[in-house]
Amino acid sequence: MTRTVYVNGEYLPESEASISIFDRGFLFADAVYEVTSVLDGKLIDFEGHAVRLKRSLDELDIVQPCSMDELLEIHRKLVELNGIDEGLVYLQVTRGSDGDRDFVFPAADTKPSLVLFTQNKPGLADSPAAQKGAKIISIDDIRWGRRDIKTVQLLYPSMGKMMAKKAGCDDAWLVEDGYVTEGTSNNAYFVKNGKIVTRPLSNDILHGITRKAVLRMAAEAQMEIEERLFTIDEAKEADEAFTTSASAFVMPVVEIDGVALGDGTPGPIAKRLREIYLDESRKAAI
Ligand code: PDD
Repeated sequence: MTRTVYVNGEYLPESEASISIFDRGFLFADAVYEVTSVLDGKLIDFEGHAVRLKRSLDELDIVQPCSMDELLEIHRKLVELNGIDEGLVYLQVTRGSDGDRDFVFPAADTKPSLVLFTQNKPGLADSPAAQKGAKIISIDDIRWGRRDIKTVQLLYPSMGKMMAKKAGCDDAWLVEDGYVTEGTSNNAYFVKNGKIVTRPLSNDILHGITRKAVLRMAAEAQMEIEERLFTIDEAKEADEAFTTSASAFVMPVVEIDGVALGDGTPGPIAKRLREIYLDESRKAAI
């Protein structure tokens, strides 16, 4: 089945979809995005992603391409047209194009570009990767200072994943001024003596939608949480660790820089949180 995608008001086969070569998303990474997961054909935490999208657009003075109700409609239609039971919906809004390349933003009434596509991922919830747990390396965080805005400037995160792959690992955690910021495409946590530790929200990290939900669910399950800066050495000495993201939910981490955590298998808190998160999210999906 050929994939149907959405581009600026039209539903098209992916081979017929196109965007201008002058689009600022292409030329300047002048664009923001969201990734929303789909379970049982329904959207997980759509509202959280829609609210963050609006915030990213406002921070960059990019015009909102359509109403949030219309966005929901487009998400649902793509999920249906592509028969997605488990997978992801990728959405990108760019500042658009005024038909040339110029560092200066185009006129404020330039139409933004809106692109959405689905990714079919059968078995996303029941993933073998989550049963095994992830091995990570630590690398310097050399990204820009507004990581709270979900821009498409993802070259360094991509390079980080490649560095991890080269080292025989799955992913990388980023370290700045001696402290872990987050993973290449997820938020980072460790657990010591039953307490979950994660970095507090600021401009230094993305305000994960999964993070918010998981911390709420952990608190409801009477788990202890501490939001503070932490070093990679603390994480290496932890009982367990994990990451959160819309694309991998709660992912146990079993090794950091070659040091196995606990017995080197996914820890009980990460496993429990994954179960709770999947369960609650399925119930609240729309
Ligand atoms: N990445 N931190 C970074 C740098 C991210 O790129 C992401 C998400 C997260 C987790 O945010 P959320 O829980 O809202 O997905 C944290 C997405 C999934 C991606 O780029 O594919």
